[in-house]
Amino acid sequence: MKKKVKISAPGKLMLFGEHAVVYGKPCIVTAVDERMKVSVEATDGNLLTLNAPDLIASDYVEKIDKLGDESVPKEVRFVSKAVKNFFDSRGLKSGLKIETKSDFSSKFGFGSSSAVTVATIKALSEIFDCNLDNRELFELSYKTILDVQGVGSGFDVAVAIWGEMIYFVTKGKKIEKIDSPELPLVVGYTGIKADTPMLISEVNKLLNKDKKRVFGIFDSIEKIVNEARQLFTERDYVKLGELMNENQKLLDALNVSSPELDKLIESSKLAGAYGAKLSGAGGGDCMVALVPPDKKVKVEGAIEEAGGTVINVKSRAQGARIEKNI
Ligand code: MEV
Repeated sequence: MKKKVKISAPGKLMLFGEHAVVYGKPCIVTAVDERMKVSVEATDGNLLTLNAPDLIASDYVEKIDKLGDESVPKEVRFVSKAVKNFFDSRGLKSGLKIETKSDFSSKFGFGSSSAVTVATIKALSEIFDCNLDNRELFELSYKTILDVQGVGSGFDVAVAIWGEMIYFVTKGKKIEKIDSPELPLVVGYTGIKADTPMLISEVNKLLNKDKKRVFGIFDSIEKIVNEARQLFTERDYVKLGELMNENQKLLDALNVSSPELDKLIESSKLAGAYGAKLSGAGGGDCMVALVPPDKKVKVEGAIEEAGGTVINVKSRAQGARIEKNI
């Protein structure tokens, strides 16, 4: 048994296929080089002490026997449930001191909940010499997300584990790496936090009102995702940009875009982007544009001009890993 371990997991950016992926369809997602870092230390006693300044929790203390309780504040529930699920699955118990530190704000929609969950469980696996493989880490982390949040396809959990760029089908039915170099992306943040469970529920209401139309939209999104997968390997950014615009139209038809997202998307296209779309649940959070390298600065300026904040990230970051410096 090790005493202390530090694990980091990357944030994510959805590139194609959001919402449809909740209904059995594929999506394409890239890991980004902004990371969530989690240090876990085994201690004597039966307390979990959590220091998570980015999750607004300082010196939060909970009894190990009471982990995952509904009364736990939302901000710390992912860590608390992750520990409980790990201990339950292995029949283990120990006092713990956990510290989290994020490179990115939990407001961006970069997947801080999945990254913190994955990093916590991987750290516990290291400390207690369990050697969970990626698939086992996925199952336990995805269960934790569903326990806390109730909904989600699991794509964010998968990319936090495997990293780089992946083709993912609902609940991890397929998790396949896509061969592609770093992408010429510009990311713009709207300043508005998206409520993912609420947006998923709104799409579900729409689906129940008109199944034929909404399943038709999901089928069209699936076609785009499969075409995009091929184009990434061919590095055809012009056609990928066109597909982003088509995907955005379909997301609009699902009512998940917003005036703020539309404004940033339109201004980036006017400034020369190959294409642009919202990234994630919609309603706020971020948009992403694929740009010719010589238009990057102009597109960034247009996004700022339109009221957005440019977030500098690199795509295809490494998946969850052990950090040497504790
Ligand atoms: C949210 O980032 C993306 C959704 O497709 C939800 C999910 O796949 O878990 C809307």
